[in-house]
Amino acid sequence: MPNVVLKEGINWVGVVDWNIRDFHGYVTSRGTSYNAYLIRDEKTALIDTVKCNFAEELARNVEELVNFEKIDYIIVNHVEMDHSGSLPEIAKLAKNAKIIACQRGKDALIEHYGAEFSKVEVVKTGDELKLGKRTLRFLETPMLHWPDSMFTYIVEDKILMSNDAFGEHYASSGRFDDEVDQQVLMEEAKTYYANILTPFASLIIRKVQEVVQMGIPIEIIAPDHGVIWRKDPSKIINAYLQWSSFVSAQKVIIVFDTMWGSTDKMARAIEEGAAYEGVDVKVLKLRATDNTDIVTEILDAKAVIVGSPTLNSQMFPTLGSFLTYITGLKPKGKLWAFFGSYGWGGGAVRGMVEMAKKAGFDVYEPAIEVKYVPDVDDLKNCFDFGRQIARKIKA
Ligand code: FEO
Repeated sequence: MPNVVLKEGINWVGVVDWNIRDFHGYVTSRGTSYNAYLIRDEKTALIDTVKCNFAEELARNVEELVNFEKIDYIIVNHVEMDHSGSLPEIAKLAKNAKIIACQRGKDALIEHYGAEFSKVEVVKTGDELKLGKRTLRFLETPMLHWPDSMFTYIVEDKILMSNDAFGEHYASSGRFDDEVDQQVLMEEAKTYYANILTPFASLIIRKVQEVVQMGIPIEIIAPDHGVIWRKDPSKIINAYLQWSSFVSAQKVIIVFDTMWGSTDKMARAIEEGAAYEGVDVKVLKLRATDNTDIVTEILDAKAVIVGSPTLNSQMFPTLGSFLTYITGLKPKGKLWAFFGSYGWGGGAVRGMVEMAKKAGFDVYEPAIEVKYVPDVDDLKNCFDFGRQIARKIKA
């Protein structure tokens, strides 16, 4: 294992999952890491574990530093299985360790792994645990990313172990923010935020404000995915505040799919109209671009224009997948518009508009539809449709 030291006595003991490409539907084109940390003081604490198939590697990393019997505490900041999957196995090795979680963490551990976790000790926000020279302070962070999530702060070292928050799905040999490509790092941090944390934007702002009000200095943010922020932790905090505020650019995203090219032609004409008004436009075909990347593009866009052909009186299946995903994520502050083509009865546009309204999205009406193949007049209408939406977001 590389000797990764955050501060004297505090080591990264996690694993890098270089080749994972699907993280429960999120396309992780650059892999990920599951970070765990070992703190050696008068008492020894392991902070989080890793996915179950990496238990052996975690055990090897820990044993290079300390005998498992010497571990006094295992802190569980989050129960999702990428962080707790190896806990049952690790707990058997660390047979003298007390397991610590918040109440919802304890409940979730029992529900995942059975009654043997009923001995878990419960902590709540503000509780502290002395390890010797060091003190661990706990902060419950429900819904970042599950109800059971919490942060662990090492008071004397000013290190915030933030679990899912401030992470990226980014496998790298550099373990710190100053050891990796900055553009790639922020791209992956944005993708991670857009696909995992968008629904919890208001909670993130409140939690960051709570941390600021607590007046706790932060020198290092050590999340459970991706790199450790030691050079500039404020960079990711400020990015989270910006993304959570849905600050958006004069940018339009056109998302569509097509059967025989009619909706494609419409998408291109709409793009030309919006671009004519001077806004930035991207056209993304669903079977050519992952939902993961489309959602990242939408995060800082002001308008999203969605197009579908009608298939069996319904929207095209890829649109069903995209709209199910995006209405669950609920990005705020966007204008949504819809277009499509049909042969006889239609149904795609109606279904998309209904879905968007049900999700509470701000829907631009009327939508625009074309029968069979768009002619010159239809394409002119599409061009004007793009112009109207661009003007609306510029107003
Ligand atoms: Fe990385 Fe919510 O688990």
